[in-house]
Amino acid sequence: MDLFEYQARDVFEKYGVPVLPGIIADTPAEVRAAAEKLGGVTVVKAQVKTGGRGKAGGVKVAKTPDDAEAAANDILGLDIKGHVVKRVMVAAGADIKQEFYFSVLLDRANRSYLSLASYEGGMEIEQLAEERPEALARIEVDPGTGITLEKATEIAVAAKFPEGLVGKVAPVIVKLYEVYTGEDATLVEVNPLVLTGAGDIVALDGKVSLDENAGFRHPEHEELEDKDAADPLEAKAKQNDLNYVKLDGQVGIIGNGAGLVMSTLDVVAYAGENHGGVKPANFLDIGGGASASIMAAGLDVILGDEQVKSVFVNVFGGITSCVAVAEGIVKALEILGDAATKSLVVRLDGNQVEEGRAILAAANHPLVTLATTMDDGADKAAELANA
Ligand SMILES: Nc1ncnc2c1ncn2[C@@H]1O[C@H](COP(=O)(O)OP(=O)(O)OP(=O)(O)O)[C@@H](O)[C@H]1O
Ligand SMILES: [Mg+2]
Repeated sequence: MDLFEYQARDVFEKYGVPVLPGIIADTPAEVRAAAEKLGGVTVVKAQVKTGGRGKAGGVKVAKTPDDAEAAANDILGLDIKGHVVKRVMVAAGADIKQEFYFSVLLDRANRSYLSLASYEGGMEIEQLAEERPEALARIEVDPGTGITLEKATEIAVAAKFPEGLVGKVAPVIVKLYEVYTGEDATLVEVNPLVLTGAGDIVALDGKVSLDENAGFRHPEHEELEDKDAADPLEAKAKQNDLNYVKLDGQVGIIGNGAGLVMSTLDVVAYAGENHGGVKPANFLDIGGGASASIMAAGLDVILGDEQVKSVFVNVFGGITSCVAVAEGIVKALEILGDAATKSLVVRLDGNQVEEGRAILAAANHPLVTLATTMDDGADKAAELANA
């Protein structure tokens, strides 16, 4: 989960990372009030989860509350790379002497953490990495030992901070690393980290991505979720602990095990080429125990997607036998009653497959078609979706 800048600012403050006061506002009038409260020069900043806000006109300096209100009129409603600005942060204006870059992130390829830092900020980091790679220090961080003051000093020196600044920057780097581990983040980025006229180091912009796998350790992270942006079906699936991702197609997919579901998506997309180009409508892994209630919850989510025209249930019975799955489907259709309106193609295989198929055959539900292989099932489901 990516945080908004104002949320990152709050988290930074909690860990003692130096930041400037900031107030969030949703209307020009609130922006004016915030600017009056902060006093002096302020900066009105679009709160959208995408980069390059400044270049898109989403960051504006305001000398007076009047200016701030005018800036808010320009920024609220602005479309930045497909993200419409609904909220801004009014930040105290910094007297910037110099801009720097710092980040620490999960380096999956090397099974480690990586810190990137540069004394040359004020430029987009991708551009800096390409044009002047020597100006960007890349330092591996051992997750076992982390970023101590000594390691932070090594990073600052590698990033070419002059001697006089290393001692000021290093403690801030240590605190940013505390944010990274303390919040179970996969990315903490500050661009720009600045030196002010008064000689202070301040984080002027923050980007934090949290690892949702660690959510159980952070009940407080739930509040940070952007409820407005969440797809209602994905939210419903989450409530039922289902692994669901909405896609653009017409064939709803239910399977057990991420690998099987992924291959089902491929096979359905392939079969769809012969049936008007229909595509998978979602990823949904119901996991190991395909009980009736889980099956009903899964079907409920998928049938709630207006784009879905047919559903392909592709289950391989392992520890859970096909009998339990078949009974689950029959009961789920009972539970859903009239809410189940779309054709279901079911392919079962594995543990107790014959018995499972017999249960579905006996139930003889008008919406259910049995398929014997994955290819046949995908083809049938695609055909029904295109009918
Ligand atoms: N509080 C502030 N006071 C003075 N100047 C600021 C302040 N916040 C930002 N700026 C200036 O505006 C520039 C852009 O701000 P910021 O980094 O927050 O947005 P961005 O880089 O365009 O967005 P993103 O990081 O999402 O791409 C900064 O590099 C800095 O020069
Ligand atoms: Mg920035």
